[in-house]
Amino acid sequence: MSCNKWRSDFPEITQRNIAYLDSAASSLKPVQVIESMKEFAALSYANVHRGVYKVSMEASRAYEEAHELAAKFIGARSWEEIVFTKNTTEALQLVAGLLLWNRYIDKEDEIIVSKAEHHSNLLPWVRAAEAVGAKVKLVPVNKEGVPMWEALGEMISKRTKVVAIGHASNVTGYVSDVKEVTKVAHESGALVVVDGAQSVPHMKIDVREMGADFLAFSGHKMLGPSGIGVLWGKQEILEELEPPFGGGGTVERVFLEEGRVRIAWHRSPWKFEAGTPPIIEAVGLSEAIRYLWRVGMEQVEALERELTEHAVRRLSALEGVRLIGPKDLQRKLGIVAFNVGSIEPSLVGLWLDSHGVAVRAGLHCAHVLHDEIGERQGSVRASFYLYNCREDVDRLAFALEELIKKGGPPAATSSPL
Ligand SMILES: Cc1ncc(COP(=O)(O)O)c(C=O)c1O
Repeated sequence: MSCNKWRSDFPEITQRNIAYLDSAASSLKPVQVIESMKEFAALSYANVHRGVYKVSMEASRAYEEAHELAAKFIGARSWEEIVFTKNTTEALQLVAGLLLWNRYIDKEDEIIVSKAEHHSNLLPWVRAAEAVGAKVKLVPVNKEGVPMWEALGEMISKRTKVVAIGHASNVTGYVSDVKEVTKVAHESGALVVVDGAQSVPHMKIDVREMGADFLAFSGHKMLGPSGIGVLWGKQEILEELEPPFGGGGTVERVFLEEGRVRIAWHRSPWKFEAGTPPIIEAVGLSEAIRYLWRVGMEQVEALERELTEHAVRRLSALEGVRLIGPKDLQRKLGIVAFNVGSIEPSLVGLWLDSHGVAVRAGLHCAHVLHDEIGERQGSVRASFYLYNCREDVDRLAFALEELIKKGGPPAATSSPL
């Protein structure tokens, strides 16, 4: 019998009997998403916005519908505010590229990010700053790895052009107050870019309420396929900016005028989606969004909160397990990172794998955060989604208990506990 009613839609769980606790890296896909892509690829596939024949028009419509659904999913004003990219990383990189290309960031300007960021929301800003001689200022984290955005008011200046904030941390699950950060940033005239990779799949998002200027997220973390990500941007900003990449599909018309090429760009989003886009993936993303709506985002969040509380209760009862992240579970989504004594996180990961439990182990693309909280070797991370249930958490806890009883994994020469 299934412990939750959605679980049976996920073949990787039902057919492989694993406790999949790595959804922060990538979620599993329900049959509905898999079938929608299979059917589209087999019977309805053609390139989009390039053909006048029926199948191409239908494919174009399906691709446009994916923009509409993504817009509705995050409360955007219009589908024209939705740009499809490869993933969150590319979406954030696109914003940095846009701001550089349009000379919005200049020498001596400032970009503010926190020490808790995933590299996808750190490296594009470091590189953008390097390119023009701007400065990156880093918001500190406290002992729990929580970014202290309350320091923003003192750090920000009239030279601050961008504040880039991770909505939910991929290590601690901590949810930052984007609305408040946006208020402070906008008072100083800075743009706000939100990395929503870990929040959009797990909680109800309303970009208009949030107030930020850009938001990035990935299809593969929200039941959809890999290969598609979303950049949302306020329409008035997107319309003003020239794209950093040109190519097929981005223009209304290209003219040759007295030996010079002149470009008349399309409107957003097409001017930003250069080349053949992720068409089959967009169909999968639409189905993933429909699935999440059927479950209800409030329900998704509630279910994960319950699992997080259960996991924290079970793991904190195990001697030798050191939990990472905020104690206040109300500010946390379904991510529980930890270490077991001084055992190398990858060895714990391998041990858990041999017990049918799939977790992530390592530095989770957040090296600075791990260094700041004194966990230089990284951590083990269990993360939940709507298909998980208490039994998965219990399997994790039992396997860890056994590891601790044995004094470490078989490969360890002396007890690392
Ligand atoms: C907070 C955060 N930002 C960005 C990313 C990058 O996402 P993607 O690999 O889909 O580009 C991740 C991925 O784990 C993440 O957790």
